[in-house]
Amino acid sequence: MQTVVTPGSARAIARTLPRPLGFVPTMGALHAGHLALVERAKLENASVVVSLFVNPLQFGPGEDFERYPREFANDRKLLEERGVELLYAPKPERMYPAGFASSIDVGPLGAQLEGARRPGHFAGVATVVAKLLHALEPTSLYLGQKDVQQTAVIRAMLRDLDMATNPIVAPTVRETNGLALSSRNVFLSETARAAAPSFFRALRAVESAIEGGELDPAAALASGRALLEAPLTWDYLEVVDPATFVPLARIVRPALVVGAVFAGTTRLIDNLPLAGADGVDPVLTPFRPRAVPSAP
Ligand code: PAJ
Repeated sequence: MQTVVTPGSARAIARTLPRPLGFVPTMGALHAGHLALVERAKLENASVVVSLFVNPLQFGPGEDFERYPREFANDRKLLEERGVELLYAPKPERMYPAGFASSIDVGPLGAQLEGARRPGHFAGVATVVAKLLHALEPTSLYLGQKDVQQTAVIRAMLRDLDMATNPIVAPTVRETNGLALSSRNVFLSETARAAAPSFFRALRAVESAIEGGELDPAAALASGRALLEAPLTWDYLEVVDPATFVPLARIVRPALVVGAVFAGTTRLIDNLPLAGADGVDPVLTPFRPRAVPSAP
């Protein structure tokens, strides 16, 4: 595995790699969720590039940028073991030199939910992903469903700006108790960790209320909201339109149950997609064309 730290060397080496080229952007502290994306990219491409960059632009003031876990040596080893061809680990000074001021704003989608709680977060994500894509020019980009609004924001950017990379979203990897893997789980206290599976159970309860025919979002959400265990507290729990992330006034499918909880100073997010009547998952397969009826 080659390691590069500047956009120029990333581009020069990426251009020599056999295509198709799969790309997995990360902020490191790699866990099985990240590695599932890497393994999928390995299966579907001739070469794979992973980026490792804790992006200051997507953290707000008072968020956890400084204490975000950094485990470069171990991450490098995990990627090497999986046969990744190229690791791109740029330095913040090179990514954002003095005078850096450009930003990609994806519009209202980036201002909903996570965007409302974390102003500027999605502009920071879209901008860094655009920079990484320009440097690496990959065939496909692998993203995790765990950060579902991020997948929608990045898809919107790719579409709106005519970027040639194909987005692929892979399912959320969870612990057996339902807790979604996250680099931030290391910050959970023992009591928060014990309570964390109740977050997933709450999402499931909303899902089953809707599966059972509940059409009023408030009623469906109430059944989930009650299940969260202390010391976790809700930031939000909503049923939203998977295209706009606007909360639904009445349940229609496909839909997305999305939530965020506080666990002390740590915030966890998770979601469950609810397939449409055609069975198509709105996150994993959002743009699949309608099936053409087969000839009799
Ligand atoms: P990071 O949080 O490191 O996540 C990198 C990728 O791994 C994202 O696509 C994320 O959705 C995916 N991922 C994280 N946890 C997962 C899980 N439990 N199951 C499946 N996939 C999971 O997301 C970012 O970094 C950054 O915002 C980034 C896109 C790299 C831009 O800076």
